[in-house]
Amino acid sequence: MDMKFNRRNFIKSSAAAASLLPTFNVLGKVAETIGPKEDDVNVAVIGYGAEGEILTDAAMKIPGVRFKAVCDIWEYRRKMAKGRLRSLGHDVNVYEDYRELLATEDKNIECCIVATPDWMHAEITRACLEAGKHVYCEKEMSNRLDQARDMVLAQRETGKLLQIGHQRRSNPRYVHAIENVIRKHQVLGRVTHAYGQWNRSVAPFLTVRDRLKIPVETLQKYGYENMEQFLNWRWFAKYGGGPMVDLGSHQIDLFFWAWDCTPISVTAVGGKDYYNREMNDNVMAIYEFKTKQGVVNRAYYQVLTTSSRGAFYEQFMGEYGSLTISEIAERGNTVQRETYTGEEGKLKWNKFIDMGLMMPVREPVKAYTQASNVALDVRVTAAADGNALPVDLLKPAHMPHLENFFDAVRKDTQLSCPADLAYESAVAVLAANRSVAEGKTIHFKPEDFHV
Ligand SMILES: NC(=O)c1ccc[n+]([C@@H]2O[C@H](COP(=O)([O-])OP(=O)(O)OC[C@H]3O[C@@H](n4cnc5c(N)ncnc54)[C@H](O)[C@@H]3O)[C@@H](O)[C@H]2O)c1
Repeated sequence: MDMKFNRRNFIKSSAAAASLLPTFNVLGKVAETIGPKEDDVNVAVIGYGAEGEILTDAAMKIPGVRFKAVCDIWEYRRKMAKGRLRSLGHDVNVYEDYRELLATEDKNIECCIVATPDWMHAEITRACLEAGKHVYCEKEMSNRLDQARDMVLAQRETGKLLQIGHQRRSNPRYVHAIENVIRKHQVLGRVTHAYGQWNRSVAPFLTVRDRLKIPVETLQKYGYENMEQFLNWRWFAKYGGGPMVDLGSHQIDLFFWAWDCTPISVTAVGGKDYYNREMNDNVMAIYEFKTKQGVVNRAYYQVLTTSSRGAFYEQFMGEYGSLTISEIAERGNTVQRETYTGEEGKLKWNKFIDMGLMMPVREPVKAYTQASNVALDVRVTAAADGNALPVDLLKPAHMPHLENFFDAVRKDTQLSCPADLAYESAVAVLAANRSVAEGKTIHFKPEDFHV
């Protein structure tokens, strides 16, 4: 009997069902092992480094996402990808060159996740889009503005989806904080100032054991001078934008979102003060935004690589109160009232609490351990003198953004960070490095943010 292979009749057979023991992924949820279904989405990942692995792990938790191919120029990472994905039920072909992947897997994949170093995003994204694939590409769009621009153009020319990896745009905690608390209900009143920081401890250049090194001819074929530059690409102008672009890209984007406008200037200072590496190891930047109401608000951003004091979080400071938030809820999840608002302000504030926009801080629970990349129960996180945001994200931080992407692929829903939106913050982020280099304020015109 010619029995069509589908989910229902496959499970009917008890012998077959016995062989279908679910595999569990790292965070303990059941991974999809029963295949293929009509709404399966077949995916390739290009660049399986630290972030490629995080994205792949998160995407594998989304029902129906099937990895078919992986590309990485590093054999060590290709082997790792093949083993890890197979153990989680995804049998992938591996490639060294993305062009070969696209040519060979053309019929097998609909989407590509691009997580190579920044300098390759534009070339690879354009090639994937032109091959008819939807693309999820990591931030920063590029370390060069002309290339970020080309990504927007490639998206428009092909009509395919292009999501940029500013994952806070899909994070329900950030959506609640910015859309509901700040914008819709104006709990903080006018937010005159914002602040963001990402501070890290001193760290030496990355190295690997000799047996893992890529032959120099392979490195040079793909444009890397040597293993040191390949591993530490963020610190070299050819491949990345330094800490300012690497980390600032996430957080400066939030100022755009909260104020719903683009900046009019950036003034930044920074230096190669500690390491004497090619890119600045610390940058402090002040952005001026002119809102649609015609008022000027200012945001201060700092990135340090010589002290982890305060780690990473963002703050929105308004006339009635302030909101502190971090991707790791433990590091920021508080809304605090300005006491000057008195009894009347307190009553209003309590109304916002009754509406569920924030909640009273409860007794701290001590029993949590922090699994990497997973935000914690928000009840433990608010400062004692504030209210907590009442939204949890008990899944990997990148997962909602990937879900948003795959929803758009399947159901034609809206992307939360399409290329033209991400381009706006790329303009501002890249300009901070220019302001440091030129020692002057960079003034923006509205048209600078449009392609
Ligand atoms: N959204 C986030 O939270 C987040 C976090 C970290 C990194 N990122 C972004 O992800 C990207 C990758 O960063 P990472 O930390 O994983 O770097 P990484 O150095 O750990 O990994 C990069 C991988 O890309 C591979 N690669 C390099 N050139 C390639 C090419 N031409 N073709 C195919 N593979 C190639 C490398 O071999 C390596 O495995 C960057 O754009 C970075 O900004 C985003």
